[in-house]
Amino acid sequence: MSSHQPISLQTLRQKLPLIAPSMLKCDFGNLQRDVQLLEQAGAELLHLDVMDGHFVPNLSYGPMVIERLRECTALPFDAHLMISDPAKYLDEYIRVGCDAITFHIEAVPDPVELLRRIRSAGCGAGLALNPGTPAAAVEAAVGECDLLLVMSVEPGFGGQKFQPQVLPKVHQLREMFGPEVLLSIDGGIGPKTIAEAAQAGVEVFVAGSSVFDEPCYETAMRTMRELALSARSSG
Ligand code: DX5
Ligand code: ZN
Repeated sequence: MSSHQPISLQTLRQKLPLIAPSMLKCDFGNLQRDVQLLEQAGAELLHLDVMDGHFVPNLSYGPMVIERLRECTALPFDAHLMISDPAKYLDEYIRVGCDAITFHIEAVPDPVELLRRIRSAGCGAGLALNPGTPAAAVEAAVGECDLLLVMSVEPGFGGQKFQPQVLPKVHQLREMFGPEVLLSIDGGIGPKTIAEAAQAGVEVFVAGSSVFDEPCYETAMRTMRELALSARSSG
């Protein structure tokens, strides 16, 4: 069991908008160094992309790697579980010290019991929606989750093109879930796309290529955060 105490997602509210680096595009040969660089660059949340080769056509990593990452940093972890059976593996992600656990509505169409299990472990409960999944699919989760993750690409791979047609869903989810829930977006976010997502009401921006393909993580994250801030105030 990790000695890390889960950090409430609500504590991140004061720091919005947030850029959450996606630990899929990182340097897996230098994970510890990358985490240190992200901390120095001002990251407040790490997004951990877990893929099972079944729910998505790609494999990444699981609890063993997260357990070692946990020893490198106290930053909050949001595990984005792109896996077919999150209920089966949930306890492992709690044990290794994830702060929030996000699973897909397409994998668990009746999500309430699992969301409650996550919350009762003291973790933030997140629900993700693929680009083609309507907001109505998660209606049963109103009042039951802390974070909604709108996918702006088909999950599975980094470096894909942003799909702006998902943006109206952000507004619909805010209407349904109210002000408490954190609204996040994942896929193709970068300096050219972050402003429209911020105007649509996104608060947490998952960013893979637009952080890790840049020479300076601090500059990349600060630039995007400033773009999100000014889009929000002009929107
Ligand atoms: C895609 C993952 C994303 C991905 C984002 O399935 O969930 O988190 O790594 O990468 P970019 O920002 O490059 O689209
Ligand atoms: Zn992700």
